[in-house]
Amino acid sequence: MNLPNMIEAKKRDKEVLIVNYDYSDVKIDSSLIGKKFFVRTYGCQMNEHDGEKIKGVLISQGLIECASLEESDLAILNTCAIRENAHDKVFGFMGLVKKMKESKPNLLLGICGCMAQEECVVNEIKSKYKYVDFVFGTHNLDNMINVINERVRSGKQNIEVYSILGNVCEGIPEKRESKYSAWVDIILGCDKFCTYCIVPYTRGTQRSRHYKYIISEVNNLKSLGYKEITLLGQNVNAYGKDLYDDYNLANLLSDVSNTGIERIRFVTSHPWDFTDEMVDVIAKCDNVMPYVHLPIQSGSNRILKLMGRKYTREEYLKLYNKIREKVKGVSITTDIIVGFPGETEEDFQYTLDIVNECKFDGAFTFVFSPREGTPAAKLNDNVSVNEKNKRLYKLNEIVNKYSNESNQKCVNSIMKCLVIGKSEKDNNKYMGYTENMKLVNIVSSIDVIGEIIDVRIDEAKSFSLNGTRIEDC
Ligand code: SAH
Ligand code: SF4
Ligand code: F3S
Repeated sequence: MNLPNMIEAKKRDKEVLIVNYDYSDVKIDSSLIGKKFFVRTYGCQMNEHDGEKIKGVLISQGLIECASLEESDLAILNTCAIRENAHDKVFGFMGLVKKMKESKPNLLLGICGCMAQEECVVNEIKSKYKYVDFVFGTHNLDNMINVINERVRSGKQNIEVYSILGNVCEGIPEKRESKYSAWVDIILGCDKFCTYCIVPYTRGTQRSRHYKYIISEVNNLKSLGYKEITLLGQNVNAYGKDLYDDYNLANLLSDVSNTGIERIRFVTSHPWDFTDEMVDVIAKCDNVMPYVHLPIQSGSNRILKLMGRKYTREEYLKLYNKIREKVKGVSITTDIIVGFPGETEEDFQYTLDIVNECKFDGAFTFVFSPREGTPAAKLNDNVSVNEKNKRLYKLNEIVNKYSNESNQKCVNSIMKCLVIGKSEKDNNKYMGYTENMKLVNIVSSIDVIGEIIDVRIDEAKSFSLNGTRIEDC
């Protein structure tokens, strides 16, 4: 048994090992071959992509994916720890599995992902949730088959979670959910330690993948017919800092652009590491999409300092304006936290002011959620929950106004959309994304899934657009 430790997780190990995934010696217990598995993933795009790896590994071992928990013999919850409500969802789902186990005692339940890296969560699972069969962390996803085997062999709960592990695994099998748009990890972990955030503890050291592996993955995806790739990292702008003296995100974007893949995206950007050179590459390369997610978190310099964000509102604005000026047709979205401990009415007003100044194309807004083990969770918090919720409501009204305005500007224009499937709202329509990442519900007389098509925008809503394939206008 190996338990996570938040103090160990804060120690940084600069030795990065690049390990090629080799399963020639590892075989899943034969009793599980041909059995059905179900994976439920919560959280960010990186976790979604980890979910694709978990599925890929299980399929490579002879298990079969099924669409529901009810049908499964093995269920894995790939969890998120970013806010308390992410926890609640997982514990709720675990309750469901517990019930199901009453009539299906051989059903195996595993927990992995970011919650599995939290000391408090794992201690709780160990003492109160004995029906959880195995737990593995974000650092030993590559070793999950051994973790499952040990549970089957011993018949006992098996918890294997490591706090520090520098390995960057290459070649883990993946079962990609889309045939047109693919995630590509470029940097794992985060070294920023924003004071409110659990991610550096759950994901570990900032570790870049070697660029040669990234380029070859993109070339491979292109040859498989993928139209779009999204470069992933908690802070993609720090790419390369831990590996190279003279190769960074600007170089990588330029090299990935040269592969000729049609669309390149990247998330998430931290303003601190965003250089002029990067802005120029985004502006210059036609296949690097004009969309930047640039979290601001707060408009108050006092709060930004307490958050450990290492930039001021003035520095943020300078960068923001530079991106707006240089990148034609760019959309910029952001993340904002309200109710950080001690946030005054004046601090909050600074946030509203900067939103009014930037007029973001969209924003994800959150109420501060204290995460055990992070510095901000220890700060004295004199803002009531009621007040925090009121601030969130007020902020959302403004955010939605600008997102609506930004969408209205698209009406009557012709925008290129990558169609990724049928519309979720209306099965007779299709759904795609514009170059600047706006969701469009599209009328088309023919099946256009997987294609990049010209769409005339007919109508704007707050969070989406309606349009018609140009040939159908
Ligand atoms: N690496 C990204 C953010 C990843 S988490 C970045 O730095 O931009 C996504 C968002 O969740 C953050 O941008 C932040 O707005 C929010 N978040 C993170 N921790 C939080 C917490 N403890 N309470 C509320 N929101 C939080
Ligand atoms: Fe969390 Fe900050 Fe790292 Fe983003 S940059 S993952 S908010 S610590
Ligand atoms: Fe959640 Fe972990 Fe992502 S905490 S947001 S799944 S890095």
